[in-house]
Amino acid sequence: MPPRPYVIDQLISAKSIAARIEALAREIEAEFAGTDKLVVVGLLRGSFVFIADLVREIDLPVEVDFIEASSYGDSTVSSREVRILKDLRAAIEGQDVLLVEDIVDTGHTLHHVTRFLASRRPRRLRTIALLDKPSRREVDFRADWIGFSIPDEFVVGYGIDYAQRNRNLPYIGKVRFTDEDG
Ligand code: IMP
Repeated sequence: MPPRPYVIDQLISAKSIAARIEALAREIEAEFAGTDKLVVVGLLRGSFVFIADLVREIDLPVEVDFIEASSYGDSTVSSREVRILKDLRAAIEGQDVLLVEDIVDTGHTLHHVTRFLASRRPRRLRTIALLDKPSRREVDFRADWIGFSIPDEFVVGYGIDYAQRNRNLPYIGKVRFTDEDG
């Protein structure tokens, strides 16, 4: 089914995102200073643009890996059950790990994925999310770093999709439905 008709209003500019990522990278460098290797794990697919920009700002020995968890599918309704669809390529036992997510919404995804990764006994496991919607939280989860705290709006762009569209927008925009019953 095609998505309902909508327009996109800019919420966070590409310039603001870049400036925030620079600041976050300095904090991450300070936290992991002296590490022989930081494994940066992107949670697919929404984090792929964020992780690409973030790793290029981090001046530490970095490796990149990806994990995929089940998500909303093609709807805006959150599914509570989280499954790992694609596991990491490499072992993380005893390693410094940074898990990178696009949005913390209800918190179920990061709550589940961090517990999954923690069971592999990394030396340090930290989490970063570009966006946080604190008003939507259903489980008590807090990322170590947040790019921007936003209100309860459905957002797209900078890697984040609505029904697989709009990931290529260079900024974060909010979806405004233009049909009658919206
Ligand atoms: P949570 O498990 O409810 O915290 O959901 C996290 C995931 O839901 C994110 O990684 C996104 O894939 C998706 N999600 C949450 N809010 C939005 C949104 O506003 N736009 C697009 N995807 C979203």
